[in-house]
Amino acid sequence: MRIKEHVILGQEEATKMVEITVDGKKLMAKEGEPILAALLAENIIINRYTVKRKEPRGLFCGIGQCTDCAMVVNGKPNVRTCITPVEQGMVIKTQYGVGEGGGEK
Ligand code: FES
Repeated sequence: MRIKEHVILGQEEATKMVEITVDGKKLMAKEGEPILAALLAENIIINRYTVKRKEPRGLFCGIGQCTDCAMVVNGKPNVRTCITPVEQGMVIKTQYGVGEGGGEK
C-alpha cells in the first residue's frame, strides 16, 4: 500500500520502477526509495530474526540507528534497509541470526 496523495506533500511524483527479488519473489519498487519502504508497500514487515532467541524484527527507528531492519542484500548481511536505496536487480533476503556466511543462523 502506498500513499498516492497527501494533504501536505501533494501528489505522488512519477518514479522509475525497478525489479528486485525478496526471498525469491520478484517485486517492483521505486528506484532510490529505501528498501524498507518498498517492503512495507508489499506488506513485508519482518526483516530479520535475532541471533539467540530467533525473534522477528522489523522497522523500529527508521533512521539507521537500531539495526532492526538489517537484511542480506546482494549477499551482504547486516544491511540497514531503512537507509539503503533500491537499485535495479537487488537480491534481498530475510536475515537469520548474523546472516549468510557469518556463523550462527
Ligand atoms: S529501522 Fe532502525 S536501523 Fe533501520
